[in-house]
Amino acid sequence: MQKKVYIESYGCQMNVNDSEVVASILAKDGYTPVQSAEEADLVLLNTCSIREKAEYTVLQRINEMNNLKARNKDLKVGVLGCMAERMREDLLEKKKVVDLVVGPDAYRTLPELLEKVGTGQKAVNVLLSREETYGEIVPVRLDTNGVTAFVTIMRGCDNMCAFCVVPFTRGRERSRDPQSIVAECRDLWAKGYKEVTLLGQNVDSYKWKPTASASDAGAEGTRSVDPPGRPGTDGSVPTDFADLLELVALAVPGMRIRYSTSHPKDMTDKVLAVMARYDNICKYIHLPVQSGSSDVLKRMNRGYDRAWYLERMASIRRHMPDCAISTDIIAGFCGETAADHQETLSLMREVVYDMAFMFKYSERPKTLAARKYADDVPDDVKGRRLQEIIDLQKTLSAQRMAGYVGQEHDVLIEGVSKRSAEHMYGRNSQNAVVIVPRHADGAELLPGMFVRVTITSATAGSLQGAVIKVRDLQTATA
Ligand code: SAH
Ligand code: SF4
Ligand code: F3S
Repeated sequence: MQKKVYIESYGCQMNVNDSEVVASILAKDGYTPVQSAEEADLVLLNTCSIREKAEYTVLQRINEMNNLKARNKDLKVGVLGCMAERMREDLLEKKKVVDLVVGPDAYRTLPELLEKVGTGQKAVNVLLSREETYGEIVPVRLDTNGVTAFVTIMRGCDNMCAFCVVPFTRGRERSRDPQSIVAECRDLWAKGYKEVTLLGQNVDSYKWKPTASASDAGAEGTRSVDPPGRPGTDGSVPTDFADLLELVALAVPGMRIRYSTSHPKDMTDKVLAVMARYDNICKYIHLPVQSGSSDVLKRMNRGYDRAWYLERMASIRRHMPDCAISTDIIAGFCGETAADHQETLSLMREVVYDMAFMFKYSERPKTLAARKYADDVPDDVKGRRLQEIIDLQKTLSAQRMAGYVGQEHDVLIEGVSKRSAEHMYGRNSQNAVVIVPRHADGAELLPGMFVRVTITSATAGSLQGAVIKVRDLQTATA
C-alpha cells in the first residue's frame, strides 16, 4: 500500500528545494506526497534556525502534532533541516512527539531511519558531509505552479558571518557537478517549466573542479565538441559561477534564469558581464548588505566595507542600467550605535533598493557574535530602528516601482491573481509582480505564457499592466 507523507517547509528557498529532494528519496520508498498533515502517515517539518522566532514557530507547530497523533496512533513525526542539525537529540528529549531527527546532509538515509521508526524506536542522523550535493537526485516538485522551479547548485557555507547559524547547520561549502545542474534545467524545460532559480548561500563562490578521471574523459574528445572559448558541459573543465550561468543560459535558451544569493565580497564583474550578455538571465540581483556602517560590517565579519559595497553597486549599474537590486538588512547588531544606524539609512537612500528583507538581530548559539560580542542594543531600540528601516524602504520601493510606469516589460505569467479571478499575475525580469487582465490579445492568459506589457500604474508592492501581445521570450546571445 502507498504510504502518505506531508512535508512542511520553513526558512529559505534551499529548504523548499530540499523538501523536494526528500520527496524524491521517499518516493522510491513507497511514499506519495499529500496536501495536509491530517491525511498523512508521516509528517516531516523541514525547519529553520536563522532567528529565534523561526525556531519558536516550529516548536509551536511540533506541539500541534500531539493532537494529530491522538487521532492517528500510527502517525510518525520527523524534524528535518537546520533545527534538526542544531538541536539534535535534544529535540527528542524536549518534544516526545518527535520520532525522527534528520540533518540536511543525511536525507539519503531516510528509508533506513524510517524502518527503525516503524519498529517503535526513535531515529537520529545529523552527520554533515563534505561531499553530499544530492547531485543526481531529481526533485519531486511540491506545491508547484508548473512554471517556476528551484535548482540547488551548492550546499553549506564557509563564510562565518558573525551573526549567522548557517555554517553550523549546513556545514562546509561544496558545489554540485555542472553537468547535473544543466541536466536538471533541461529536464525542467522539457516538463514545461519556464523559469529556474539557481540556489546557494553564496553563489559567487560556486567552484567546480573536475576530478582526475573526469578530465581524462574530457581529454579523450568530449571537450572538442564544445564551441571554442566556452566552458564544456561535461564537467571536465573548472567552472566558476559566471561559467555556470552561461552554460545554463545556453543550454535552455527559452528558460528564464534567476539566482540567489550573491555575496558582495565575491560578486565578480565576470558574472555581471554574463548577465548583461544573455536576455534570458533576469536583470535582478539580491545583494544582502546587512548594514551601511563599515564598523558594524567589520564586526559582522562580512569581508567588505561600505565603500566596497557601493563600488559593486556602481558596477552593476554600469553593466546593466535596468537591473533591480534587493537586499537583507539587520537592525541592532552588537555594538550598533545611533550613528551606525543612520549610515544604514543613508546607504539605503543612496542605493534605492527595489525591495528588502529586514530583520531585528537575534543572537544564535555558537556563532562568533554570541561568543565574542554582547547583544547590547536593547530590544525596544532594535524595534525602533527596524521600523525606521521598514518605513524608509516602503518609500524607496514605491519610488522604484513608479519608475517602471510607462515602460514595456516581458512578463512571465505565474497564476491567477489572489485579488481578482479576472486578473493574472506574473513577474518582469526585475522580479516585480505585475498584474494584468486575464483576457488579452484575443486569448485567455495561462500560467507559463510570456506577455509583452505596458506598465500602467504602480504601488510599493506591485505593478499593473496592459498586455500588448502574447509572445515567446526572445532569447539567445546578444
Ligand atoms: N547567505 C545569505 C543569507 C542567508 S540568511 C547571505 O549571505 O546573504 C538570510 C538573511 O537572514 C541574512 O542575509 C541576514 O540578513 C538574516 N540573518 C541571518 N542571521 C541572522 C540573525 N542572527 N539575526 C537576524 N537576522 C539574521
Ligand atoms: Fe550566513 Fe554569511 Fe554564509 Fe550568508 S554568507 S549563509 S550570512 S555565513
Ligand atoms: Fe534557515 Fe537553514 Fe535556510 S537556518 S534560512 S533554513 S539554511
